[in-house]
Amino acid sequence: MSTESTPNVVALIERKKRGGELTAEELGFLCEGFVAKRIPDYQMAAWLMAVCWRGMTEAETLALTRAMVDSGERLDWSGIGRPTVDKHSTGGVGDKTSLVLVPLMAAAGAAFVKMSGRGLGHTGGTLDKLEAIPGFSVSLGLDEMRAQVERIGCALVGQSPELVPADGLLYALRDVTGTVDSVPLIAGSIMSKKLAGGAGTIVLDVKWGVGAFMRTVEEARALAGALVRIGEGAGRRTRAVLSPMEEPLGRAVGNALEVQEAIDTLRGGGPEELWELTLELGTHLLLLAGLAGSTDEARTRLTELRDSGAGAATFAELIRAQGGDPRVVEDPEILPRAPYVRDFVSDADGDRWVAALDARGVGEAALALGAGRRTKTDPVDPAVGIVLRARIGDRVAPGGALAEIHARTEAEWNEAAGRLRELYRLSPEPVAKPATRYEIIGG
Ligand code: URA
Repeated sequence: MSTESTPNVVALIERKKRGGELTAEELGFLCEGFVAKRIPDYQMAAWLMAVCWRGMTEAETLALTRAMVDSGERLDWSGIGRPTVDKHSTGGVGDKTSLVLVPLMAAAGAAFVKMSGRGLGHTGGTLDKLEAIPGFSVSLGLDEMRAQVERIGCALVGQSPELVPADGLLYALRDVTGTVDSVPLIAGSIMSKKLAGGAGTIVLDVKWGVGAFMRTVEEARALAGALVRIGEGAGRRTRAVLSPMEEPLGRAVGNALEVQEAIDTLRGGGPEELWELTLELGTHLLLLAGLAGSTDEARTRLTELRDSGAGAATFAELIRAQGGDPRVVEDPEILPRAPYVRDFVSDADGDRWVAALDARGVGEAALALGAGRRTKTDPVDPAVGIVLRARIGDRVAPGGALAEIHARTEAEWNEAAGRLRELYRLSPEPVAKPATRYEIIGG
């Protein structure tokens, strides 16, 4: 049914199959036709598979991303009176950084609307963590969201269905056609949502390692490069931070436990590596958004906002604004707590040092306790999870705690303990703590 001005879908699939390039108009035609159901799933799937094999040029990747953004609404923050910032993490185990970073950045003068997802498989999701706070709602209408940001500078919400409907449809098709693992498709999917969110500054936390989507630093570098090129191509100040995900981030894995750890971190406690990553991401956001003039100034400002309690106070305001119980910031005991909490201890006959702790395995152990979901519709248990008492490089005395397991039942505790026994690799010799290595991509 093609006419001279309407591209022929088969011809577009064939061209990509042979490694050719599609124009912005042709990509717009494919994306718009697919969302409008004029182009059937089987043709779109064939084109997606051709992209997986042949890749996309930088211009194609940007054009596809723009076409996806055009499929829905976009947020307009003009007149908000603060620089707008956004952040995305490619996902990992124990990653509760957004809960610390969002209120701190709002306290620093930014407008930060963080649209997040739910956990699936071994990685957790920010929405599930927030819903562990009694009463907290992650659904805000666009008008409510704007009013909240005008008042307190931030919101932590679910991805708005009005934004980028093409992404939901394309992702569902990729999921069942073996076409998820393509760098331009992943980059387009992530960045379309960021561009539609409307922030002027975007920082991307691209994780690599056994617990991450990208297993090697080289893969993470390729994805980070594609993400940054799209952001810059669309006129946003964009930078990526590559961060390791070999062992979980911080000590807590599980929804309420992670909220508690985030609050501890906002109040000056919490694990060092969580604070370091928050500082790193926040520093790039402040610099790119023009809210700090140097790295030292940015780090000092964020640290002062933590130490003065301003970040924790903003988190309490955000919780109150979204229907949650703000007393949780002063008294994390309000959070749901699992009924069966016991230490899992070392049974070695002498001192041992943790040599390895597989993040993916810990995520799966928490998932088996009920902290995550295997399919999109599974319920999650907010209370259960694991607190790692020993991380890589830590010394553990005989009978010393390796982890605290928060379970619903003794049987579930035993199952998690069996998994952790396999996951903790202990050495009789001291093991150095891994140095924090961040690599920065983008100007
Ligand atoms: N996350 C996304 O948002 N999209 C992908 O394609 C992969 C991960």
